[in-house]
Amino acid sequence: MKLGQPLCAAALLALAASPALAQKAADTTEGGVASAYESKAAKDQVPLTEDLRKTSNEALQATLYELTELQHRDHQAHWNVTGPLFYELHDLLEHLYEEVFTMIDVVAERERALASPADSRPVAVAENAKLDDFPAGLMRDKQVLEQLSKDYHEVAQRVHGRLEATKDDPASQDTLIDVSRMLDKHLWMLRAFQL
Ligand SMILES: [Fe+2]
Repeated sequence: MKLGQPLCAAALLALAASPALAQKAADTTEGGVASAYESKAAKDQVPLTEDLRKTSNEALQATLYELTELQHRDHQAHWNVTGPLFYELHDLLEHLYEEVFTMIDVVAERERALASPADSRPVAVAENAKLDDFPAGLMRDKQVLEQLSKDYHEVAQRVHGRLEATKDDPASQDTLIDVSRMLDKHLWMLRAFQL
């Protein structure tokens, strides 16, 4: 049965006939549907201590907001870049947003492995990525290079700063090291046009 779907007549009859089933149905999950698989033990089967998970999830979630914002910016510039470097940048930015998109999933799934929700809602990204406004409309190639270099540099520095904070959770730290390596590489690719 899908979440939120009303109980069918047969299910209602079964509940009426079985107090145990009715009690189980009363212990509903957030979606409004009891799960026969719900288990107190499963809820406790999470890695690390609560404190470590909290520290790691804060670092991962902040990174998830920023990567989502960078991926949008890469895409926006991919479409709107103009000038003599149009094709080089159009192509390069496709490569960048694909790599960032892959990393977004890795970061979000590490959060879920640590029993935290992953938040990538547009409104939350806009509020929490904390980068300067990105220009609307067409952008000259030089402007794209300057803007994205600034953005990647800002986020790369923030992620470097989170590596120390996650040192007691090496798996999360390793995830952030992968993010850091990718950001440094992207920054190099943007910087190389300007040297
Ligand atoms: Fe495209």
